[in-house]
Amino acid sequence: MEETWLAVDRFISDLLVPEDPVLEESLAAAAAAGLPDIQVAPNQGMLLHLLARLKGAKRILEIGTLGGYSAIWLARALPEGGRLVTIEAEPRHARVARQNLSRAGLGGVVEVREGRAADVLAQMLTEGDETFDLVFIDADKRNTPLYFSYALRLTAPGSLIVVDNVVRRGALADAQSTDEDVQGMRRFLRELAREPRVRATALQTVGSKGYDGFALALVLAGEASA
Ligand code: SAH
Ligand code: DHB
Ligand code: MG
Repeated sequence: MEETWLAVDRFISDLLVPEDPVLEESLAAAAAAGLPDIQVAPNQGMLLHLLARLKGAKRILEIGTLGGYSAIWLARALPEGGRLVTIEAEPRHARVARQNLSRAGLGGVVEVREGRAADVLAQMLTEGDETFDLVFIDADKRNTPLYFSYALRLTAPGSLIVVDNVVRRGALADAQSTDEDVQGMRRFLRELAREPRVRATALQTVGSKGYDGFALALVLAGEASA
């Protein structure tokens, strides 16, 4: 990774992301349990938190929990009575996340649903629960198009859908890539472009998490249909 990216991320995070023992402990606990170091960066966590607050989100859905780091950032943006549901396939990750979330005082606010996202999302649709104001998609990249289609069905006009890891070191622009995750993201962006129910963009990011990016999609009023 480029040294400058790291130096600038440190400069930004040192200034704008307050030191936070709970978040730091969650990272330490995830590392100690052998979880991969692939959670969002601190300044990206703050971005998710700000987006949730801008949205006034009362109900948030996350797909891909890992150790609960991004979930803590998002859940802390919720008002009294708000809820976050986060989906995780790996029992070990879910266990660490539950511990981290309860240490953060968020055990009663966040529900970690264990299982493959495709199964859990299908189940959530049949449960016919309330819709979500914000969805953060951050699981297995190849299935992002599927998760996005579920997100559209689990949101309402005005909801925001955020997708992590859309750029993958620039591989997004490589039509010849044989990486299924890259092809998944290329397909996701093509589907996003064709989807009349959203207005969307994607941004490249560099920093402590390397070179990657986010997509943001606002669910529109009017055209919404099943
Ligand atoms: N959002 C987290 C990082 C998530 S990393 C953060 O920023 O803090 C991606 C997570 O998705 C991993 O924990 C992985 O186990 C999980 N995952 C991968 N495939 C999945 C699937 N099919 N269903 C649910 N979770 C999955
Ligand atoms: C990686 C990064 C992520 O943010 C993620 O959600 C999954 C994997 C990675 O760098 O491999
Ligand atoms: Mg990610």
